[in-house]
Amino acid sequence: MRFSNFFLPTLKEVPAEAAIASHRLMLRAGMIRQEAAGIYSWLPLGLRVLRKIETIVREEQNRAGAVEMLMPTLQPADLWRQSGRYDAYGEEMLRISDRHKRDLLYGPTNEEMVTAIFRSYVRSYRELPKTLYHIQWKFRDEVRPRFGIMRGREFLMKDAYSFDVDFAGARQSYNRMFLAYLNTFARMGLRAVPMKADTGPIGGDLSHEFIILAETGESEVHCHRDLIDMPAPGIVDWDSDLQPLVDARIALYAATEEMHDEAAFAAIPADQRLSARGIEVGHIFYFGEKYSKPMQCMIAGPDGVERPAQMGSYGIGVSRLVGALIEANHDEAGIIWPEAVAPFGVGIVNLKPGDARVDDAAATALSVLEHAGLEPLLDDRDERPGAKFATMDLIGLPVQLIIGPKGLDKGVVDIKDRRSGERVEMSLDAALNRLTAARGTG
Ligand SMILES: Nc1ncnc2c1ncn2[C@@H]1O[C@H](COP(=O)(O)OP(=O)(O)O)[C@@H](O)[C@H]1O
Ligand SMILES: [Mg+2]
Repeated sequence: MRFSNFFLPTLKEVPAEAAIASHRLMLRAGMIRQEAAGIYSWLPLGLRVLRKIETIVREEQNRAGAVEMLMPTLQPADLWRQSGRYDAYGEEMLRISDRHKRDLLYGPTNEEMVTAIFRSYVRSYRELPKTLYHIQWKFRDEVRPRFGIMRGREFLMKDAYSFDVDFAGARQSYNRMFLAYLNTFARMGLRAVPMKADTGPIGGDLSHEFIILAETGESEVHCHRDLIDMPAPGIVDWDSDLQPLVDARIALYAATEEMHDEAAFAAIPADQRLSARGIEVGHIFYFGEKYSKPMQCMIAGPDGVERPAQMGSYGIGVSRLVGALIEANHDEAGIIWPEAVAPFGVGIVNLKPGDARVDDAAATALSVLEHAGLEPLLDDRDERPGAKFATMDLIGLPVQLIIGPKGLDKGVVDIKDRRSGERVEMSLDAALNRLTAARGTG
């Protein structure tokens, strides 16, 4: 991609309304544009990151055996009357009426709809367990949308729903998602810590929030330090008993403020206690018959007796993750994308557009890296080098390939690593070999 052909409206000024780094950087880097409070357009650079995150989430859901579908954003109010939530949900629900004066709503979540879908097709235990998910826009009329897309009103969520015949099955489905979440966040270079969350009237202990530690996080969290360093499970046999893998993690103390138990926390040796702020990027929850019972989603067991399906729901804030990733990966100069979610893999800087030698070298680099699948972005604008370096650092591509007339006189170009700032000189061929080889092993 050539910069001159792309649409990347970066801002020089630091927007006054943005209180945290990720919001400031997303606006400055031309990733999003606010259209109304908590409602954003995803500009091309932002969309590329959002899609990368979505793909990782999707691949890990599929790997764990969940099945993708797509439910609409608009839902009939009648569905929500069946579960009793239409009135209970309150002002966060955006209620709409159509030309026939039928009540609709913009879905804040999909328990009712997925339960209605399931009950109309599935009757027997033989078809269970099943986990269905979709990645769809949600709307919640938050009182105080803030921090850009981190707490928006319209936001992209992956939400999965599991159906089982009994509690043991539901726990296995829950454990699958628990472990799949750890792998998902690890692939993005994030350490998300599962923390005990409130189960409300459902009771039990099957609710966890996945939290990324960040100073600007909205939640106060407390945990055992060892949890932070515990690696993701990686390859998992999803049909085996997953309880030991889950137990190894939940054995260590971790709770958000609402669930915090001072005494249990105090029992941890002082140097292993960690109290910090965090961002909730995922939430998994077992709720049993909460929807299947009032909505009559009944499953016949091997004994022929019909019982309400045992259900759980599992959310990931796909759009919030874009902000969370920036909170975890930035410096004074801008964003530093982890490779797996970078909008482009390599930024090529042409220091002197119009100079035939430099233009040729840059065009060669663009073509070679494009063919190698590295998704390069070539800055071919007629701008001062300083401005180009600043833009590249701001948008945070992991590697920069810098090509200028002085270097070419010596037969070299520069490769700059965005995170370390380290710059090395080598011939263009060597640089292209190195970048494409790194791709091959990565
Ligand atoms: N207003 C929002 N803006 C962006 N992401 C959100 C918002 N609300 C929730 N999410 C994301 O969706 C995930 C699942 O939502 P859920 O747990 O139902 O929300 P909540 O914790 O607000 O009750 C959350 O873990 C979070 O990552
Ligand atoms: Mg939550």
